[in-house]
Amino acid sequence: MADKDQQQVYPVVREAKNDDVESATVDSKELRKKKRLKCLAYVAAFAVFQTGIILIFVLTIMKIRTPKFRVRSATFESFEVGTPENPSFNLKMDAQLGVKNANFGNYKFHNSTIVFFYDNTPVGEAVVRNTKAGWRSTKKLNVVVDLSSRDLPSNMQLGNDISSGLLTLNTRSRLNGKVQLIFIFKKNKSIDMDCTLTINLAEKALRGISCK
Ligand SMILES: *[C@@H]1O[C@H](CO)[C@@H](O)[C@H](O)[C@H]1NC(C)=O
Ligand SMILES: *[C@@H]1O[C@H](CO)[C@@H](O)[C@H](O)[C@H]1NC(C)=O
Repeated sequence: MADKDQQQVYPVVREAKNDDVESATVDSKELRKKKRLKCLAYVAAFAVFQTGIILIFVLTIMKIRTPKFRVRSATFESFEVGTPENPSFNLKMDAQLGVKNANFGNYKFHNSTIVFFYDNTPVGEAVVRNTKAGWRSTKKLNVVVDLSSRDLPSNMQLGNDISSGLLTLNTRSRLNGKVQLIFIFKKNKSIDMDCTLTINLAEKALRGISCK
């Protein structure tokens, strides 16, 4: 009986063994395939991630932006204005200028001048000293300028402006300099200022600034 039992059991066991081995090899093949796919997916994801990082780097950090140069504010140390019949002005202005640098790197610029105009005639100028605007910041510069109607050709405009109570001046300047990105890449960049200042004569104060 024992013999017979064993003979009957054997094939079953062997069959079971074969099944196991076969399914095991199938399993491990599938597993390896899955692992390979997973690995490929990781590599692809990493490549996409890295490309994204490089793109962001190029599009934001490595991008050269033109700095902006403008008049930020102004006050007056002295303020003398004539009458509509006898128009003139003599003002001493403390102006704060700003160089706004949005780059990931310094903007260094050379000495320059800022000229103030009344009706397209220069009425005063000041020196803008060479310095630099740091990474993503605004460099503030203070200049003192004497504004005088002395050199103006006589015209009706000034009398009209004085009777209206508002004096309008233009400021122009150009800075020549360099943007230096992450200490390595340099690019020459010139920036222009073109602002219009409106002065309220009764308040002896600046009423508005608009820049192109
Ligand atoms: C810039 O101007 C200042 C005086 O305003 C002068 O001392 C300096 O040498 C100038 N720099 C250059 C590079 O010309
Ligand atoms: C940048 O400007 C300076 C003078 O300010 C000049 O010597 C230099 O050649 C310019 N560089 C480029 C790349 O244009």
